[in-house]
Amino acid sequence: MKTPLFFQLQSLSGPALATEAEAGLRAAAAAVSPKFFYDALGSRLFDAITELDEYYPTRTEAGIFAAEGAAIADAALSCSGPAPVLVDLGAGSCAKAARLFASLAPRRYVAVDISVDYLREALAGLQREHPAMELVGVGQDFSARLALPAELAHAGDAADAGTLVFYPGSSIGNFAPAEALRLLREARALATQGKGSGGLVIGADLVKDARVLEAAYDDALGVTAAFNLNLLRRLNGLLGADFDLRQWRHVARFDTQHSRIEMHLEARQPLTVRWRGGERRFAAGERIHTENSYKWQPADFEALLREAGYGAVRRFADAQAWFGVFVARA
Ligand code: AVI
Repeated sequence: MKTPLFFQLQSLSGPALATEAEAGLRAAAAAVSPKFFYDALGSRLFDAITELDEYYPTRTEAGIFAAEGAAIADAALSCSGPAPVLVDLGAGSCAKAARLFASLAPRRYVAVDISVDYLREALAGLQREHPAMELVGVGQDFSARLALPAELAHAGDAADAGTLVFYPGSSIGNFAPAEALRLLREARALATQGKGSGGLVIGADLVKDARVLEAAYDDALGVTAAFNLNLLRRLNGLLGADFDLRQWRHVARFDTQHSRIEMHLEARQPLTVRWRGGERRFAAGERIHTENSYKWQPADFEALLREAGYGAVRRFADAQAWFGVFVARA
């Protein structure tokens, strides 16, 4: 049986994260990156979000793969050739990619996530089920830059295989269009290294009725509100700040002009937040912007893929066209 290989690339240290968060709090329009949502509790809250009635993206994407999995795999393999290297961005539990193993038969599976520690358990379990497959875990914050370790481009016969980049879950929507374009270009560079033929399989959430969108980001149980407020708890730990979570309220609105859900935390009353080495006053109603989740028109997302250099784009969607899985040649 093979054993998984692990790499941790440029992980942000506690002090670097603190500096980034503090700069966001001090900005004229306070804003803190959504990456601060995902501590241990935040990751569990996100998993709970994916089970909510109102949060349609996860189950809609799963439905598309259940109904069209064979056609999606055929389209992907026509880009990469057989037995590809499968690179899974934001792999987490690796469960979504593992469901494609039977149809894609990858010769190597590379799971990328912000911390390699999240991947160890999942890859150990996968290796037991697929003893002959090469499994690699890469810890990387690819929201800043996506590039795999040089060793991977030359290790074993996989250098001759085509590459498929897999980016499900509509996380591309958490990037502004210019940043999404950069990430898609970096994914393309990765998919065309080695043998030079490759492809992308990516999930993107599509524009729909604002009431459906707003309910998905402001559910009746208040799980998304807890997920958003947990960011303040995280800042309390990271910066030694004294945010009182009861003084803040979760806000999620669809901005039609930018075609995005915006999530904010809004001060319920005038207050001052203090942290090690700083403080800031917030007026009642003043907000901290915590996340954008862009919703795409299918044609616009296809145009973005083409602008990033991809061709032969195919789209798979549910009957309501709420969510799209796009397969594109790199
Ligand atoms: C991770 N990402 C795709 C989620 C989204 O829908 O934008 C994050 C999320 N934020 C609130 N609910 C879910």
